[in-house]
Amino acid sequence: MNILVVGGGGREHAIIKKLKESPSAQKLYCCPGNGGISKDAECHDIKACDIESMIAFAKKKDIDFVVVAPDDPLVLGMVDAFEAEGIKTFGPNKAAAIIEGSKVFSKDLMKKYHIPTAKYEVFDKASDAIHYIESENSFPTVIKADGLALGKGVVIAQTFEEAKQAVDSIMEDKIFGESGNQIVVEEFLTGPEVSVLAFTDGNVVKPMISSMDHKRVFDDDKGPNTGGMGTIAPNPFYNKETESICMETIFIPTMNAMNQENRKFKGCLYFGLMLTSNGPKVIEYNCRFGDPETQVVLPLLKTDLFQIFNAIYDEKLEQINIEWKNEAAACVVMASGGYPKSYQTGIEIKGLDENGQIDGATVYHAGTKFEKGFFTAGGRVLGVTATAKTLSEALLSSYSSVKKISFDGMHYRTDIGNKHTK
Ligand code: AMP
Ligand code: GLY
Repeated sequence: MNILVVGGGGREHAIIKKLKESPSAQKLYCCPGNGGISKDAECHDIKACDIESMIAFAKKKDIDFVVVAPDDPLVLGMVDAFEAEGIKTFGPNKAAAIIEGSKVFSKDLMKKYHIPTAKYEVFDKASDAIHYIESENSFPTVIKADGLALGKGVVIAQTFEEAKQAVDSIMEDKIFGESGNQIVVEEFLTGPEVSVLAFTDGNVVKPMISSMDHKRVFDDDKGPNTGGMGTIAPNPFYNKETESICMETIFIPTMNAMNQENRKFKGCLYFGLMLTSNGPKVIEYNCRFGDPETQVVLPLLKTDLFQIFNAIYDEKLEQINIEWKNEAAACVVMASGGYPKSYQTGIEIKGLDENGQIDGATVYHAGTKFEKGFFTAGGRVLGVTATAKTLSEALLSSYSSVKKISFDGMHYRTDIGNKHTK
């Protein structure tokens, strides 16, 4: 099989490293990929959203199977375009990817099918939203842009002033463009957060090992939100009982709801959950593997990933027995100085071997390029993952590898998984 993975971050590197273990993967391509991925797959500089060029490339290289990993090409309909060419693809089509592409759609879906989530109202005029927030007078309150916003479209406003500013910048100043034509204003929930990625073919849903992201940039959950500064798996708060509640009240109902709406979801469905005192609730859906969740979940997978992808394409997921290692994984993200605000690139990375790896851990490259050595090329640069029998051991290995890698200005959180191992 010639397999093409679309995307170029740490998530895609983790998918590629796992696919490499599959006997079916004869040749792996990644577009656009990055410096580290180029050691595991042939990379070509085609933008993840350039559907036309991606299809031309797939035809030229005789690609048998495509994995579309990032949210934006999925929401744009890249899977539909490949399937129209008769090329097998992993990922939801455009009609199903809307579950991430529109928060208004996902909130209305949950309301209609009684899937537990925060209470909310939808607005298409800033003045109406501001009037509502003022009359509710309940803070913190949560304001979400309807469309994709690079993970930055959620504001937790502590005061009326902050809320008004958020509404104005999203709806009037259009800081996220069209994504801010509508907003959701929702109830603030509290409790541990859990990420559950699940394989589904529309007939069955098979959750993967749970994980926990660390979204804030600094230790102790301080500073602005990022794409994710580190992850652990499994999530220590997610026990068997919670899992069965989620299966009954969230996972299966969501799959069925999408079928009812004629939007059969095939691919990886990401459930961002909060375990509240009133039970698990959905904070968000994503239509794809999470980043950096994938960097701790896939290393624990024993089953052939390509076989799973293919079974989902054929809608025969039920026949596959998915097995996991009885281990824990930890991923520490090393970021460029200044990230998540502006940062420099092109800085030499020291401590990696010629394959971009280091003893004792797997280094997933998120933003690197290779030119006789590895250089930074993004905000999140590397995700250093270790697996072990226990979470504490995985964290120790990951951090001891992180300490051997360096680049000017770099920063990383020193407390990944801490709250849960003390
Ligand atoms: P998202 O970009 O949708 O992942 O949201 C970013 C973060 O905002 C989530 O991981 C939560 O920590 C937080 N968040 C979103 N919605 C709520 C809510 N209703 N209550 C409390 N926190 C929330
Ligand atoms: N780590 C959160 C996400 O992938 O959206």
